[in-house]
Amino acid sequence: PAVPLVDPFARAIRYLRVSVTDRCDFRCVYCMSEKMQFLPKAELLTLEELDRLCSAFVRLGVEKLRITGGEPLVRRDIMTFFAAMGRHLETGALKELTLTTNGSQLGRHAKDLYAAGVRRVNVSLDTLDEAKFARVTRWGRLPQVLAGIDAALAAGLRVKINTVALKGFNEDELFALTEFCAARDMDLTFIEVMPMGDIGNEDRIGQYWSLQDLRADLARRYTLHDLPDRTGGPARYVMLGETRQRVGFITPLSHNFCESCNRVRVTCTGEIYTCLGQEGHSDLRGPLRSSEGDATLERAIRAAIALKPKGHDFDYSREDVAGRVSRHMSHTGG
Ligand code: GTP
Ligand code: 5AD
Ligand code: SF4
Repeated sequence: PAVPLVDPFARAIRYLRVSVTDRCDFRCVYCMSEKMQFLPKAELLTLEELDRLCSAFVRLGVEKLRITGGEPLVRRDIMTFFAAMGRHLETGALKELTLTTNGSQLGRHAKDLYAAGVRRVNVSLDTLDEAKFARVTRWGRLPQVLAGIDAALAAGLRVKINTVALKGFNEDELFALTEFCAARDMDLTFIEVMPMGDIGNEDRIGQYWSLQDLRADLARRYTLHDLPDRTGGPARYVMLGETRQRVGFITPLSHNFCESCNRVRVTCTGEIYTCLGQEGHSDLRGPLRSSEGDATLERAIRAAIALKPKGHDFDYSREDVAGRVSRHMSHTGG
């Protein structure tokens, strides 16, 4: 087998996140602007190109593949791509195939995802209130997402809920969300809102709700037991003594976890971002299209990983644009 991917800080890259579309049927306020200009279809990697690209990463030692967007399930024929990636599960090269979704299309696709080999999905859900849900997603319908979650559970998928912690928005729903997940045996992860996209347009700093505070709120009702095991992701988990459920915290701002970063991201146009919180990226579409063989592509992947930075510089304490990233979160898929 090929020499695995290792970056200059001796971090082995085993986790690839691939965005398959920049489109989404929602416009979450912290992710997109209301009038997003989506890319012309010709700019996107084709499903065949995505297959070649992901397969190259798997040959280079990637064991976990997460499909993101935009909303991955709005891309036409995306199930053929999931089925193609399922091959790598069968050979054992890939240990996990998964996706992060807003849940709106899970009703249609849950069964096929399971058939392709997906066993876990992460669903974004910031509120259980219909009116608030419509506000934060700009027009999303909560019942559709709840039906999607039920369909995923019925199909045998494990579901993890991702909730972006937003001050003055979902602070009052901490326990409602916890109970909602406990009742369905779902893990729940809270994410600190990251300063990306629409700089100057909107006050994300005022929305920042530190997970240190959230954790303290949670501890008023539940006994929190720290869980040592990390899922290979950035979340730190606790177990709630009373309900035995897992609750995770992703805290890029109040505690950065860059030293153990094992991941890179590829956008739907084939750019590789080796850090979510940095602007630096390299092109893989050119190398992908320049030859039928994959040697050029593999060289380009290694060259990009050799540039992986030590960490991000998100910083809310600065008033200026340094410490922020102007790219929208949907560009790199979170
Ligand atoms: P698992 O650990 O496999 O469940 O996945 P995950 O939690 O990494 O994936 P998910 O797509 O659910 O990630 C949730 C969110 O965490 C992402 O969308 C980002 O907002 C944030 N996140 C994930 N990875 C990173 C990272 O490397 N750096 C930073 N700053 N944030 C990340
Ligand atoms: N900060 C933190 N999380 C974000 N997400 C989207 N934009 C941001 C942001 N600015 C989350 C979504 C979803 C995941 C893909 O990323 O809610 O759970
Ligand atoms: Fe769509 Fe997810 Fe971005 Fe919301 S956070 S607009 S659901 S891609």
